[in-house]
Amino acid sequence: MPELFRPTIARMRGYIPGEQPQDSGYIKLNTNENPYPPPPLVLERLRAACDSDLRLYPDPDAHALRRKLAGVFAVEPAQIIAGNGSDELLNIIIRSFAGEGDKIAYPSPTYGYYKPLIDIQGAEAVPVEFPADYSLPVDLAAAGARITFLANPNGPSGTLIPYDEVAALCAAVTGVLVVDEAYVDFSTGGCIRLIDDHPNAIVVRTMSKSFSLAGMRIGFAFAPAALVMGMWKVKDHYNINRLSLIAAEAALEEIDAMRTNAARVQKTRRRLSGQLREMGFYVWDSQANFVLARSNGDAAALYEGLKERKILVRYFSEPPRLADCLRISIGTDAETDALLTALTELLA
Ligand SMILES: Cc1ncc(COP(=O)(O)O)c(C=O)c1O
Repeated sequence: MPELFRPTIARMRGYIPGEQPQDSGYIKLNTNENPYPPPPLVLERLRAACDSDLRLYPDPDAHALRRKLAGVFAVEPAQIIAGNGSDELLNIIIRSFAGEGDKIAYPSPTYGYYKPLIDIQGAEAVPVEFPADYSLPVDLAAAGARITFLANPNGPSGTLIPYDEVAALCAAVTGVLVVDEAYVDFSTGGCIRLIDDHPNAIVVRTMSKSFSLAGMRIGFAFAPAALVMGMWKVKDHYNINRLSLIAAEAALEEIDAMRTNAARVQKTRRRLSGQLREMGFYVWDSQANFVLARSNGDAAALYEGLKERKILVRYFSEPPRLADCLRISIGTDAETDALLTALTELLA
């Protein structure tokens, strides 16, 4: 039988998302979800929206959501496109700006989904290695790419590149610069104002992390109106379902709840980082809702030992940057205590 798949699909491995255990009882610190629930208003609105209107398609233009986002972030609705999670927006961006064989650059290691999306498109991935301190690689713009991705804060390091350096990068790249701000609400950063004077800037955000709505799949991107108009041609028309639109709008009305939870996560992150350092881990300065910790022993054994104790974290081993590393999402204080107790036992 001849190969039925396009060569690029036949060759690629496919993205492996973080583990979502089927049995309950795990302390889940492996996929950077928010440990705190969304505010009651979101749940009330969702319950009220479960009615016969579900027979109708959702608003293809997400008008109400984009108006609310424009108000909160002080931009025009025409500068916003919303997506079924920010993953969909990353997908739309690649399909909009890069064709087969075109270069797409990103500092590495970073969010693991860029590479499969690039492979699916048949574009050429140009990973540029981060220095050991995760500062901006100097030759990132030299790649001459049609798209440059910068996760900021970065995953899995949690580190943040300052605004001025991002703006300089945006001016230096040949194509579009995509600043993926999935974790920005846990940080001191934020690059939305790039779109005011950079015609090639796109800033992508999500409600999966700080807004506690990973299950609803809502992302949004800010870009100059001309870029938004082009990307609109690529997006599925009914890309966000009715319930997700309602949840997103309610979450914006209760944005202070998000801010309160983000502040709690930051506080727990400081405590966890300090205690992991006392235990002998090297911990990068995180501005996200997770920390990257390098073990001076056997990180794989720690990962397995935690899993036996029903605590899930993410284990990385790729040298040089991620050798012997655990990425630990910030949980509640009680979950963090359980993690620290288990690590103390395992290290003893
Ligand atoms: C850097 C980064 N960007 C984007 C995403 C995707 O988020 P969403 O749930 O909005 O698709 C993630 C998810 O973990 C991420 O880490």
